[in-house]
Amino acid sequence: MPVYLDHAATSPIRPSVLERYTRTLAQIGNPASVHSFGQSSRQLLEEAREQIARNLDCDRNEVVFTSGGTESDNLAVKGLYWQRHAEDRNRTLIISSSAEHAAVLDSVNWLVSEQGAEAYFVAMDENGVLDLEDLERVLRERADQVALISLMWANNEIGVVHPIKKITELASNYEIPVHSDAIAALGHIPVNFKESGLSAMTITGHKLGSPVGVGALILSRKQKVTAVLHGGGQERNLRSGTPDAAAADAFALAVEEAVTEQATLAVSHAKLSARLIAGVKLCAPDVKVSSENVERLSNNVHFRFPGCLGDSLLFLMDLNGVSISTGSACAAGVSSPSHVVLSLGADADEAMGTMRITLGHNSTEADIDAFLEAFPKAHEGAKKAGLTRR
Ligand SMILES: Cc1ncc(COP(=O)(O)O)c(C=O)c1O
Repeated sequence: MPVYLDHAATSPIRPSVLERYTRTLAQIGNPASVHSFGQSSRQLLEEAREQIARNLDCDRNEVVFTSGGTESDNLAVKGLYWQRHAEDRNRTLIISSSAEHAAVLDSVNWLVSEQGAEAYFVAMDENGVLDLEDLERVLRERADQVALISLMWANNEIGVVHPIKKITELASNYEIPVHSDAIAALGHIPVNFKESGLSAMTITGHKLGSPVGVGALILSRKQKVTAVLHGGGQERNLRSGTPDAAAADAFALAVEEAVTEQATLAVSHAKLSARLIAGVKLCAPDVKVSSENVERLSNNVHFRFPGCLGDSLLFLMDLNGVSISTGSACAAGVSSPSHVVLSLGADADEAMGTMRITLGHNSTEADIDAFLEAFPKAHEGAKKAGLTRR
């Protein structure tokens, strides 16, 4: 049986979600139409909004449905920047980190290259832990120039968890809005919007077991944002386009199940991850486990194998029926070193020798058995490929 250990790239649709989605997909009606078909779609959409709000502890009208994480990150970063810059022309500085997902990083870099913004990337150590003193210093020195802060809740490649509450507390001294990409965190650690102090938070469905192509930006009612998409004015005028009520409904169910099972799943994932790490270390004593001794996601294990090509490992594991990843799916297919691993201070060779295993809602002991059985041969093979590259 093929084994899937790449849930951070995308997670299989949950059976309950699939069953519900296949029923609601047939529903007719634009949620904006006044006839009864439209009203039924509107009801489905609004109940989904309500269900997400209940599970993330936010207000129902703080849920802005989008097509997923990329769109939510773009809306948050560009929308907050444009809004804050329009209110005060001095606000050109964006504080972020060099280990953010490309949806944030490339939005920031685009604002820098095309819109006159300036970026400041908070310093971090070799484990990816952010230096909050550095953040505090830049805020102290340049608060009146800061448009926004965007720092992810947990890193999707190496699994390190960031202290979002502390970050928002620092920012609140200067009334600076903080956006966080919470995609990797949701379902794996507690995520509570109200408690977090965030102004905006990105989530997406397909990492939780919903269909691909639906997500949300949770946006505080108090926070104004300039829209990226213009048109019919749906979603508080922030995201024009006919909302996909069936997808929103499926997404809401996936969010509810992920949040409900989070604590239990974290315990079982921690056990599975520990077995995996112990097994790999036995066979490859020179392996490095990224961010091993800092707060990290229990469903994520990220290895660095000296002298080994991550692509070869991936290929050889796949030949043996085990699907893993070298890092972020968005960068996969292109053999370049991971920007996240490079940002930890690793050299390009080390950044090419990575393997990421991410567990999800249906991961089992049998998956780990299969991994540990396939790994020794794949590692041998990848080491040979690594050596011929030099
Ligand atoms: C942390 C993070 N942010 C953003 C995205 C993009 O989300 P989507 O695929 O829903 O556009 C991903 C997906 O890989 C991700 O892992």
